[in-house]
Amino acid sequence: MKDIFTAPFVKGMMKTTANMYRMGWDERNGGNISMMLDNDEVAEYLDINKPIRKIEMGFDAKELIGKIFIVTGTGKYFKNVEDDPECNLGIIRVAEDGVTADLLWGYSDGGRPTSELPAHLMSHISRLHANPENRVIMHSHPTNTLAMTYVHELDEKKFTHSLWEMCTECIVVFPDGIGVLPWMVCGTNEIGIATAEKMKEFRLVIWGQHGIYGCGKDLDEAFGLIETVEKAAQLYLMTAHLPRVNTITDPDLVELAKAFKLDYRKDYLDL
Ligand code: 13P
Ligand code: ZN
Repeated sequence: MKDIFTAPFVKGMMKTTANMYRMGWDERNGGNISMMLDNDEVAEYLDINKPIRKIEMGFDAKELIGKIFIVTGTGKYFKNVEDDPECNLGIIRVAEDGVTADLLWGYSDGGRPTSELPAHLMSHISRLHANPENRVIMHSHPTNTLAMTYVHELDEKKFTHSLWEMCTECIVVFPDGIGVLPWMVCGTNEIGIATAEKMKEFRLVIWGQHGIYGCGKDLDEAFGLIETVEKAAQLYLMTAHLPRVNTITDPDLVELAKAFKLDYRKDYLDL
């Protein structure tokens, strides 16, 4: 059996959580990540037939029965994952009943997966339908994105458009736009259902006055989506109180879309 601490998926989670912490996106226990793993790859590191204990999930994830995920622990600090991955991360498999999970590794202090597990697993289901290659769901509290939700209308078209205007790369990175949810109580099945509904259509979902969800085929892709939104939100806030002398116009965005052959939300432009 190979050493689990050398597994690329454990090392990837360590590196990404440390990066997100250093970006200032994940104060205290803020943020959570889940990544679907390949069962055969996990079996090189763990005896997947010997679960440590059962974890009640409190919602139905039948579509994911037998799937294995590495997930950040609830209440755990991203800044501490690198030093003690076995305590701050867990590897779980959705059990045969679809409502419990088998813990295969981690949460060594008796911990549990993130309180946002409903939003994560329900979003995995949505994204796998949209793109079978999707593996990662990432939630974070990036400062400027969060600040923008206090001063900008929480309207998907207007929010996406304001971000597309801020950096040339935005429409290229997220041509499908951003889903936006109003403020809701977090950690509930309700916010999970609402997030997953948006994830059918969008790879990015803003939670008003809370944070953002991103997804992707790997950790870099989910991170890069959030990073691009956060950069644009920072530029928006740096300029929101100043007279706008220049901007990227809608015809410019159309030119970009043509040049990069983008399948973009045309209805989010005013032409
Ligand atoms: P967890 O510590 O349960 O992952 O919660 C953090 C968070 O960001 C809640 O939205
Ligand atoms: Zn949060």
